[in-house]
Amino acid sequence: PVSIGILASGSGSNLEAIANTLNNATVAGLNPDTAKLSVVVYNNPNAYVQQRAQKLSIPAVLCNHREYDSREQLDAAIIEVFQQYQVDLVVMAGWMRIVTDKLINAYPRRILNIHPSLLPSFPGAKAIVQALAYGVKITGCTVHIAIAEVDAGPILQQAAVPVLPNDTLETLHQRIQVQEHIIYPQAIADYIKLLSS
Ligand code: GAR
Repeated sequence: PVSIGILASGSGSNLEAIANTLNNATVAGLNPDTAKLSVVVYNNPNAYVQQRAQKLSIPAVLCNHREYDSREQLDAAIIEVFQQYQVDLVVMAGWMRIVTDKLINAYPRRILNIHPSLLPSFPGAKAIVQALAYGVKITGCTVHIAIAEVDAGPILQQAAVPVLPNDTLETLHQRIQVQEHIIYPQAIADYIKLLSS
């Protein structure tokens, strides 16, 4: 199986969705024969993703960015963990740090990202707030191959989500996450098939 390393900063709902589809083989091509969630690297000591990983019996390693002098040094520590777990494919699931060339070049075309907007609209850390402020009526989420430029790179999957009157950051984020949990496992399955063909 392809060894997957997860990068996560927050609650880890995408990690859980990926793990559930993998364990229950609910998406064609994504099952314990094709993929293994080898390790979760997280950067915030209190991130709930750590508890989810524990519940899912996936090793979780803290690489706290506050303990490194530069983004490159954080990425070097992450690469070390991923090498230890023989990671083939990196999946950023709510990773809120900018990654450097160091990580990108260590895993060329082997890093996927999910972003809570229809890229190229609203890149960056405030995608949902910006979509609300702009007044778009449709937003969504995007799975793409990560490149050095933030929230850019070849798009693998997108889902559209309506913005409803009275939406708040929370209500819109929830609606987007329902779609994230569908398209991310699907995109990972398709990408693994592509890599092995
Ligand atoms: C997701 O909605 C993801 O799109 C977003 O963080 C959330 C993480 O949720 N990512 C970004 O904003 C990346 N810039 P989760 O921890 O519950 O999976």
